[in-house]
Amino acid sequence: MAKSIIVCTSVSHGNTKKIADAIGGVLDAPVVAPAAADLAGYDMVGFGSGIYFGSFHSDLRAFVESLPQQDGRKAFLFATSGLPETRLTRFSGRLIELLEDTGFDVVGGFSCRGFDTFLPFKLVGGIRKGRPDEDDVTSARAFAEHLRDAVDLDRE
Ligand SMILES: Cc1cc2nc3c(=O)[nH]c(=O)nc-3n(C[C@H](O)[C@H](O)[C@H](O)COP(=O)(O)O)c2cc1C
Repeated sequence: MAKSIIVCTSVSHGNTKKIADAIGGVLDAPVVAPAAADLAGYDMVGFGSGIYFGSFHSDLRAFVESLPQQDGRKAFLFATSGLPETRLTRFSGRLIELLEDTGFDVVGGFSCRGFDTFLPFKLVGGIRKGRPDEDDVTSARAFAEHLRDAVDLDRE
């Protein structure tokens, strides 16, 4: 199995950490914050955060920007957000571009809803209460299993 590490910024409600732990459980990968991440020796890196003002968290983006050029190391991304990604609110595209510019081979992505108390939703007690829920965690695990199998096939 590809040796994997997950770099996750989850500051609002711990929503993305829940997903990171589910994926990490399948991939047998440690989940670390950007400040503690050392990618040496890992074949694949997962990058995840909540979505803030239409983008992945700035700590996560700054971490990717600080990395040296990669030699095709595998990467995947995951996010939780109050609103789903649409053609108008594409948040993955820019991180994928940044990762590819840094020399990563981006092999997959996952996103689901997360409890969101960003204004103006705060006024109504937030939206997506209880998310990510058990179904989201099950989907995240299925994503990780698929990723693991695809990457391992690629290595054979
Ligand atoms: C300041 C702020 C800005 C946000 N901006 C967006 C946004 O642009 N789009 C979206 O879908 N959700 C947005 N959200 C909701 C978060 O993406 C969502 O709550 C996410 O699950 C938080 O993840 P975390 O608990 O792992 O940090 C925002 C939340 C906050 C607090």
